Amino acid sequence: MQKRFAIQDAATLAALHESGQYIGGALVSQFEEEFARYCGVEHCIGTANGLDALTIALLADKALGVLPENAHILVPAQTYIATFLSIVHAGMTPVPVDVESLLLTSEVIKPHIGTIDGIVCVDIYGKMVDVEVYAFAKANSLPIYCDTAQSHGATNLHGNRSGSLARASAFSFYPTKNLGALGDAGAITTNDASLASMCRKIANYGRESRFVNDIMGVNSRLDPLQAGFLSTRLKALDADNELRKTLAAVYMKNLENAKVTLMNSQFIEENAMHVFPVFVDDRDTFVSYLTSHGIETSCHYKIPPHKQVALEQFNNFSFPITERIHNTEVSLPCNPLLSVTTIKRICQIINAY
Ligand SMILES: Cc1ncc(COP(=O)(O)O)c(C=O)c1O
Repeated sequence: MQKRFAIQDAATLAALHESGQYIGGALVSQFEEEFARYCGVEHCIGTANGLDALTIALLADKALGVLPENAHILVPAQTYIATFLSIVHAGMTPVPVDVESLLLTSEVIKPHIGTIDGIVCVDIYGKMVDVEVYAFAKANSLPIYCDTAQSHGATNLHGNRSGSLARASAFSFYPTKNLGALGDAGAITTNDASLASMCRKIANYGRESRFVNDIMGVNSRLDPLQAGFLSTRLKALDADNELRKTLAAVYMKNLENAKVTLMNSQFIEENAMHVFPVFVDDRDTFVSYLTSHGIETSCHYKIPPHKQVALEQFNNFSFPITERIHNTEVSLPCNPLLSVTTIKRICQIINAY
């Protein structure tokens, strides 16, 4: 998918050599400005990857006193392990919750009011968390951070862009994302100027000014070459997402097999369709069947964070909804290089399963 832009990428590399500035510089600030404008926020801070973006946003709010030491952060169990790890790496405690409708709701948060210090929500599969969650968090004075690693360019019914609703949002530009780099890359978006400058400082060794470091930071800078590649791809993001939505609509209209459960139609609306998930009990047989027909699938994901050996403190927790999703999810092909005809053919093959 990334090869489409090979000519522009060569020009980016030439521009980098021309500038001689291999860390930071114009390519980075240009992308940060473009992406902030695109998301409809005041600030964008490039980072080395999505995990760092979320970790740094949490660390920055700890440094600013918005979050206490060892803050308890509510997080949906249904996510990639990176979401949990960011909270742990920030020296905080994840408070995982099971979520009925894939996305966090205020109903799920309510019982935890009084025992949590903040919320990390996740725009899973490309669908933005509803504004009611943000309103609820605000009414309860809880800072909310969004893991937007899967929702680049999604826009809700109110016209809000992914990355614009939370106190800070964390993007991953992993190559397979809707906006993907040619390697690791990430960014934080926010409307808060103090949070933005604290994030920037932490991402650059805690550097206050040249030779002066007044807090413990990390090295997590957006690489200028990746920034240039991202500027090129940002121009195509809206058209790509439109195509993803078209393909998803074709799946929704044509898939008809009692063994294959689809997302509800509401979940598809205003969704950037990072992946098109279906849920199948005998997943391995289904995937082998598709492979035998030349259809490549992926899985988001197989083992939930709370059951990972790395997070053994949660291994005894039970989140039946999340576990069921992880046991049955299959991501069908859904990317801008595919055509409607291809998706219709995939539907026929699935319907014959
Ligand atoms: C939901 C979610 N959060 C966080 C990340 C972490 O992003 P990165 O791999 O850029 O660190 C990913 C990437 O796969 C993701 O899907």
